[in-house]
Amino acid sequence: MTNIEPNPVHFAPSGPLTGTIVVPGDKSISHRALIFSALAVGKSQITGLLEGEDVLATAEALRAMGATVEKNGDIWSVDGVGVGGLMQPETAVDLGNSGTSARLLMGLIASHDISVTITGDASLSKRPMGRVIEPLVQMGADIQARQTHDGKSCLPLTIRGLCPAVPMEYRLPVASAQVKSAILLAGLNTPGITRVIEPVPTRDHSETMLKGFGAEISVDTDAKGTRTISVAGEVNLQPQNIKVPGDPSSAAFMTVAALLVQGSDITIENVGINPTRAGLFDVLRQMGGKIAFENERTVGGEPVADLHVTHSDLTGIDIPADIAPSMIDEFPILFVAAAMAKGTTTTNGLHELRVKESDRLKQMAKGLKLIGADITEKEDGLVINGNAGKLLTGGNNRAIETALDHRIAMSFAIAGLTSQSGATIDDIQPVETSFPGFTELLEGLANS
Ligand code: S3P
Repeated sequence: MTNIEPNPVHFAPSGPLTGTIVVPGDKSISHRALIFSALAVGKSQITGLLEGEDVLATAEALRAMGATVEKNGDIWSVDGVGVGGLMQPETAVDLGNSGTSARLLMGLIASHDISVTITGDASLSKRPMGRVIEPLVQMGADIQARQTHDGKSCLPLTIRGLCPAVPMEYRLPVASAQVKSAILLAGLNTPGITRVIEPVPTRDHSETMLKGFGAEISVDTDAKGTRTISVAGEVNLQPQNIKVPGDPSSAAFMTVAALLVQGSDITIENVGINPTRAGLFDVLRQMGGKIAFENERTVGGEPVADLHVTHSDLTGIDIPADIAPSMIDEFPILFVAAAMAKGTTTTNGLHELRVKESDRLKQMAKGLKLIGADITEKEDGLVINGNAGKLLTGGNNRAIETALDHRIAMSFAIAGLTSQSGATIDDIQPVETSFPGFTELLEGLANS
């Protein structure tokens, strides 16, 4: 995390990638599995939990608020405190790099009678928190956040919850599953019905999982596709056994690697393919990518498949803005795929990428230019003239800035495999937030 020396790593051009792998558990589902279990009365058990730094930060914060979170072998167990039962932590809660932890836990705290100071690393401390502060203040929370010179509310902040909070109906001004989930979490300990109106659908793990935990939650979709999610407050949640599927956002890196490296043929088992997350796979197929979903099944309410991916010649496309929420974390690696495709790929409507773990449009444009790609950066997207399958020149030992962003680091690791002189990333450490074992898994595919 913050205090570890940067660890630069070089990714050299690779021979064919082959073999069968599994990727670590889904980050979004892992956070939610811990948080909802902490609100149930009794013991929940979780298998496949992502043991990345982001999820471990959520676990630690829940412990600080009274839940018992333990690991025995491969099974995580959580003894919950019950809705309304969170306790005052003794010290500030450090959430490292994790925006999901910060925003979801703020929602959780907002309707409990506790006061919590939240801190994070340099990346998380730059990210906008106004989008969660605004609705949670409407529900009655008192939130004092650091104000930046350009008027943004950021960490560190202190949130004092109100119990009982005030239920409300809130229309999301930005498509954000984190904001939606924060409000639903606040609503769980609020009398009456709390409603979130979502004009553009975002990942729906909170809704699916809350139903499984026995919450009274309903989702109505109108003719225009606008979703209204209603949750009844002050209900008991029942402990659950949860199986976390593999993270499609992690599988994305291995998928693009296999598509780009000549002669590759890999299978990634047990990957979540929830339609609110699987936009990248659709886009890559439209570009000519050979990606087969095999053995499709449902695990714990989530659709799952084994992904069979073989090397493919890709063609650039225009990516419509409305698909963005279903692949919001996958644009960095999509840009790498586009840089190797034949023709031009255009992306639009991606302002949100500027407020992720880093400004992903800026970092990807900068790094891709450094390794020889033809990129134009616009305010809301990138335009990429692809190399038609020819290797990129590579960075010639100039290090690519990862800016504390795991997905920038992994995207350029994959780009290195398809560059003449490879790519050196200035720090591999951020990968630990979401994909422990990334480098070893990639090496295994190259050496099998
Ligand atoms: C997440 C939602 C998305 C995504 C993040 C995880 C979640 O963020 O980028 O990695 O688990 O709810 P936004 O809600 O900001 O779009």
